[in-house]
Amino acid sequence: MALKTCLLLSAGLVSLCSGHDSDYVKSLPQNARQMFTESMTWMDDYHDSSAGYLYNFGGASALRYETRSSAWYALGLLARNSGDDVSEAEKIITNIIAGQYKEPADQWFGDYQQEPEEPYVGSTNYPPKIYGSFDPNWRGFIGTTFVMAIEEFGHLLSNGTKDLVLESLRNATIGDSYRVGGVDDDNLYSSYSNPAIMRAFVSGWTGRQLGDKNMTDAGETYAGEIIDLFNMHQTLSEFNSGTYTGVSLFGLTLWSKYLPADSVMTENGPKMLRATWDAVAQLWHPGMKNMAGPWDRAYGYDMNKYVSLMALWFWTILGKDKSSLIAKPQAMSHVADYAWAPLFSILSSFHSSLLPENITCRLSSFRQERTFSAQAYYPPYDLVPRNISTWLSTNLTIGAESYEETVIGGPSTSQTSFNPAVVQWLVDGKDVGFISLYPTETALAAQVAPGTLNLTYPKGNSSSIFTFVVSTNKKQRTVSGWEDVTGLKVGVSGNANLTYGLEFAGQYGGKGSLIRDFEFWNFTYSMPDGFEGVPNLVLEFESV
Ligand SMILES: *[C@@H]1O[C@H](CO)[C@@H](O)[C@H](O)[C@H]1NC(C)=O
Ligand SMILES: *[C@@H]1O[C@H](CO)[C@@H](O)[C@H](O)[C@H]1NC(C)=O
Ligand SMILES: *[C@@H]1O[C@H](CO)[C@@H](O)[C@H](O)[C@H]1NC(C)=O
Ligand SMILES: *[C@@H]1O[C@H](CO)[C@@H](O)[C@H](O)[C@H]1NC(C)=O
Ligand SMILES: *[C@@H]1O[C@H](CO)[C@@H](O)[C@H](O)[C@H]1NC(C)=O
Ligand SMILES: *[C@@H]1O[C@H](CO)[C@@H](O)[C@H](O)[C@H]1NC(C)=O
Ligand SMILES: *[C@@H]1O[C@H](CO)[C@@H](O)[C@H](O)[C@H]1NC(C)=O
Ligand SMILES: *[C@@H]1O[C@H](CO)[C@@H](O)[C@H](O)[C@H]1NC(C)=O
Ligand SMILES: *[C@@H]1O[C@H](CO)[C@@H](O)[C@H](O)[C@H]1NC(C)=O
Ligand SMILES: *[C@@H]1O[C@H](CO)[C@@H](O)[C@H](O)[C@H]1NC(C)=O
Repeated sequence: MALKTCLLLSAGLVSLCSGHDSDYVKSLPQNARQMFTESMTWMDDYHDSSAGYLYNFGGASALRYETRSSAWYALGLLARNSGDDVSEAEKIITNIIAGQYKEPADQWFGDYQQEPEEPYVGSTNYPPKIYGSFDPNWRGFIGTTFVMAIEEFGHLLSNGTKDLVLESLRNATIGDSYRVGGVDDDNLYSSYSNPAIMRAFVSGWTGRQLGDKNMTDAGETYAGEIIDLFNMHQTLSEFNSGTYTGVSLFGLTLWSKYLPADSVMTENGPKMLRATWDAVAQLWHPGMKNMAGPWDRAYGYDMNKYVSLMALWFWTILGKDKSSLIAKPQAMSHVADYAWAPLFSILSSFHSSLLPENITCRLSSFRQERTFSAQAYYPPYDLVPRNISTWLSTNLTIGAESYEETVIGGPSTSQTSFNPAVVQWLVDGKDVGFISLYPTETALAAQVAPGTLNLTYPKGNSSSIFTFVVSTNKKQRTVSGWEDVTGLKVGVSGNANLTYGLEFAGQYGGKGSLIRDFEFWNFTYSMPDGFEGVPNLVLEFESV
């Protein structure tokens, strides 16, 4: 009897819950609605209502909370508007603003705490460290979310909360105006596409709301610089990234949706968004569910294994099963980005209205072998434009970019996210293998042809090395050389010493350390003793 009651009760609850979607959620297109509902259900489990924050995802932070995902969840609560969702959202928003930095003299003024537990940035034992104790990009991540809250759900918020949000956006915009690339360790040049696009938008929107012409004009000026850079090659400076192309498309959608006709953002947003999607459609390999390389900034080597923001866009356009997400994305690496899902769901139908013609068809199945080429320019780190060339075939892709930069590891000086030459292939028609050149040089001349990757270091010398991060595979777990890499035949020539070093980087052992959660084999070529000249390596591939 008890059991029966319980079953009845839970059945009743299920229908109660599903019956409680707001008209707003019901109005979302089917894919967006599914993504919205599934991501919110996942986040509900991390919500601590008594605190008015979400716990940090992943269960590895001793129950500390996290600010940014709480903001995204709060927007989702406003959209869901069921039970006490709206008051819970207001509680979170008020908390986040209470934790916003309020001292105009601080470099981090108007920025948001990363977690409510942290000491005051700049206090004796918590020195300011950009992208450490404060992350200046969070003004943009949270600011854009607040704008969406006002634009989409302002009618649900009390006047007091709305005023508070506007004041918060005013401070965030002023703080963002302190950011100048190359000053105070900051790197916000207009070429740093994703936060630059968000800053221009929030400044333009907030200035108009507050009737602050100077703020409005600043937004237009920032946008103008981004547009000028874009117009050089019809590409974003930060090009082809599973994560950051997703943020830039988000920002360009905001440019296109929420500003009046007199803004350069309204005028240019749609065409920049379409050109970006045209490149994505060329580089996306539906059979591998990966964007072929090279990747300016990647948080993994196979999009089927980590949550990327592009995967969330693909979900809204193609459906979940054709995106690179598994059924339960919360098990994937880089899971925190899954918390963007409510925002993309809310923007989905407008975003889809801007897409290039028959994009769905182009993204749905691999159509034909092709070579894609493009240029992109990221001053002041790029001394000349980068030249990108990618060959895609049914079972094998090879993509690389030539570059000449002031730093190693791309503009974010991260050797683990800059992937200037990438090979991917299908193993047994389903698993994806990868080889990525680990960047160790300030310059690379790369030539891509069907089946061939030719790598030269114009500024290299006898100490140069070619390190390849190579996927593990199920069939041949212990790898002793290229011949053990499953699904691919590799031939190597060039003036490097062709006797290569091999190391393993594993979770539980091996010499190297995991990169972005991925285990890998490290194939490294050095130059022969007494080498003089320009280091060169030519790799030939055949999928088998
Ligand atoms: C909220 O503000 C609007 C317009 O500013 C006003 O019409 C309304 O009366 C206010 N509501 C309350 C409860 O103060
Ligand atoms: C905005 O900044 C001012 C200082 O200019 C500060 O007094 C105020 O509390 C801040 N507002 C919010 C909402 O943080
Ligand atoms: C106008 O905006 C610029 C850029 O945001 C800022 O540097 C300047 O201080 C602002 N001036 C005033 C008077 O608000
Ligand atoms: C896309 O649309 C254009 C114009 O409507 C058409 O000519 C072209 O064949 C379509 N391409 C695909 C791949 O369906
Ligand atoms: C890319 O190509 C242009 C010519 O279109 C050339 O001027 C530039 O130097 C090349 N970039 C690199 C890094 O080789
Ligand atoms: C791709 O691989 C599949 C099986 O793994 C094979 O059947 C097919 O012939 C290959 N296609 C090409 C073009 O090599
Ligand atoms: C590889 O590229 C370099 C220039 O970048 C060129 O000199 C060399 O001939 C190329 N090698 C092959 C085998 O194509
Ligand atoms: C090779 O170049 C690197 C970087 O410029 C430099 O640090 C190194 O000393 C050079 N090695 C030799 C043997 O010249
Ligand atoms: C790869 O192995 C070489 C030695 O062969 C080592 O110097 C290098 O640090 C390793 N790189 C990575 C990314 O593990
Ligand atoms: C190439 O590397 C191997 C292994 O490290 C070494 O034994 C050999 O002497 C090297 N050859 C030259 C020409 O440097």
